[in-house]
Amino acid sequence: MDTILILDFGGQYNQLIARRVRELNVYSIIKPYNISIDNIKKINPKGIIFTGGPNSIYEENAPKIDREIFGLGIPILGICYGMQFMAYILGGKVSQATTREYGETKVKIDNQNVLFLGLNKENTSLMSHTDYVSELPSGFKKIASTKTCLISAIASDDRKLYGVQFHPEVNQTENGIKIIDNFLKHVCKCKKNWKMKTFAKDKIKELQEKIGNKKVLCALSGGVDSSVAASLLSRAVGKNLTCIFVDHGLLRKNESEEVESVFGNRDDVNFIKVDAKERFLKKLENVTDPEKKRKIIGEEFIRVFEEEAKKIGKVDYLVQGTIYPDVIESGLGNSAVIKSHHNVGGLPDYVDFKEIVEPLRELFKDEVRKVGLELGLPSDLVFRQPFPGPGLAIRIIGDITKDKISILQDADYILREEIKKSGLDKEINQYFAVLTNIRSVGVMGDARTYDYMLAIRAVKTSDFMTANFSYIPYDVLEIISKRIVNEVAHINRVVYDITNKPPATIEWE
Ligand code: XMP
Repeated sequence: MDTILILDFGGQYNQLIARRVRELNVYSIIKPYNISIDNIKKINPKGIIFTGGPNSIYEENAPKIDREIFGLGIPILGICYGMQFMAYILGGKVSQATTREYGETKVKIDNQNVLFLGLNKENTSLMSHTDYVSELPSGFKKIASTKTCLISAIASDDRKLYGVQFHPEVNQTENGIKIIDNFLKHVCKCKKNWKMKTFAKDKIKELQEKIGNKKVLCALSGGVDSSVAASLLSRAVGKNLTCIFVDHGLLRKNESEEVESVFGNRDDVNFIKVDAKERFLKKLENVTDPEKKRKIIGEEFIRVFEEEAKKIGKVDYLVQGTIYPDVIESGLGNSAVIKSHHNVGGLPDYVDFKEIVEPLRELFKDEVRKVGLELGLPSDLVFRQPFPGPGLAIRIIGDITKDKISILQDADYILREEIKKSGLDKEINQYFAVLTNIRSVGVMGDARTYDYMLAIRAVKTSDFMTANFSYIPYDVLEIISKRIVNEVAHINRVVYDITNKPPATIEWE
């Protein structure tokens, strides 16, 4: 099988690159940038992609690879920092701009070059950099430019070395996939024979070999990720799997009952529901810092599981539905910490299980959905909008109280009801309410109110790594706002969040 090796320089989008390559039916793996040349030779990739990264090439600890890599005869595509590194090491010059170029930018390209075949002469692309290549290394030519970044892409066709300053892997880059496809097809000459289908089959086999007859606990939230993870495990180990659903009191309205009705009545699943509302609330009392909330919830989850596991007997493995964006945004690779997702960075150091199993760790949401459908899960479960492990705790800004949870549950329920009624639920990938800790003055029935401001968040995204706010029509927003203010006590103002990710994240905390 032809393989593309992705060398991780610490960029936020590195796994996205891997996934784009896989979408184009070529197998890809990610390794840290400091992998040895010998190991690269062992992998024997058809091509290499250098990811972006947060460093400047002139920083003392800037990640670098031995220049021998350029002599292996393997095609290389450098993205952002990857391009700057390539240019610098091969004798070009990298300079620092006075202002950062960030956002969607018009890029003029040489569409005769193999990398840009089939593209228009001008494409919108996502730029995110301060440093730029100011002088070409010898043997290279410029194949793209913007108004402010004169060398936006470089090529040395005979050596099969290419670099792009923008990010072809993100949705905001027009024809970005085509650029990656050109690299795979025309430069690396890859055979496109890797299929997502083999993922479930291979994973089940791998889990069977790893787990054997041992007992497994699965943390089931009722969301897509943990349901797909549980389904893979149930295929692999059958009744040796017990699914535990923790009601931490921070679920959406009616959610606890719904999860129980889906999983509680099945013969092939051992299902246990734990009512842990009070203990979570107690631990979260007066906690306002988002990272602290996440860590507390992550730790308490594990403690609940350990206790349940002890009741069951010897349990060796704990399964979690962690997916790749959880991993990358928790800063476990070389990238900066954005949030500690409770499945990952929030884990305590000591965990009383032999091992944590995360079968979906390399996949993005839409890939997980494909696996879910292949495993025969009902489509309404597979296409459910995501709900974060820490639940409403990260949608209540500031301290968490029972009253605030109930206010948010009621408001969020109305929002979901109205979005569904309008048919927008098919278009919007995630929508929810956020209870801010801002109170403002209002007037209701001739009386003054001083109550909470509620924010509505709704985004369109395919990978949840980047997202755009959804264009909800004003009339729908108006109905939502009116109903919430009328029906939910202590909310007297509703606002709509019109920020994309980046620079914001989807959740507020
Ligand atoms: P952000 O807020 O990081 O969210 O832009 C990206 C996606 O991840 C979900 N999310 C989480 N999921 N545990 C999870 O299982 C978490 O701690 C967590 N935090 C955010 C979020 O809802 C969105 O879909």
